[in-house]
Amino acid sequence: MTIIDKTFMIASAALKHSPITQSKLKLIPNFISQKEEEQILNESEKKLKRLKYQRDHWDDAIVGYREFESANWSEQTLAVIERVKREAHFSNSPRQLVHVLDIDAAGFIKPHIDSNRYCGDKVAGVSLLSDSVMRLVNQSDSSKYITLLLPRLSLYVLAHEFRYDYTHEILSDEMSFFGDEYVKRDRRVSMVCRSEPSPLSK
Ligand code: OGA
Ligand code: MN
Repeated sequence: MTIIDKTFMIASAALKHSPITQSKLKLIPNFISQKEEEQILNESEKKLKRLKYQRDHWDDAIVGYREFESANWSEQTLAVIERVKREAHFSNSPRQLVHVLDIDAAGFIKPHIDSNRYCGDKVAGVSLLSDSVMRLVNQSDSSKYITLLLPRLSLYVLAHEFRYDYTHEILSDEMSFFGDEYVKRDRRVSMVCRSEPSPLSK
């Protein structure tokens, strides 16, 4: 079931006349089961536990994070990755490497657009351990923005203008509001699949 409605998305008034279709922005609650979440976390923990949370680099797009990329996953996790790729309709071949990003309870992701050097026309992310709030803001007109509620276990897909013209960010705990509703931000792990960058961007 795909839901893009007021339960999960609030669009600013400036977007009233812009249709937001599923091919541009998708959110699927309960995309994975708790068992699949546990499997992905167990596998990731082996790599994550050797890494320290980074928060000293003032110019980083992310605060309070650790991360790794891997193409080696268990059969069960590969099955989830395959489902993500199918749901996201990656047109060109998807990137082999899947990115796992772990932000601690005080961590957050500042507004940014993924570089064309390592990301093609789509970004798809599964949220583990914590609900969070993602904000998308049009780069050239900040009155155009969307607030998304990303529940734990959900999948989101950014494409078209939401991939290229809108920055995306994950709000810090103190900013973590979906409308009037406070969404507690705990430690959050995401599994992010990106489509292959165009050869011209490399
Ligand atoms: C990123 C990013 C979003 C997420 O790593 O570039 O925006 O859901 N991640 O973790
Ligand atoms: Mn990003």
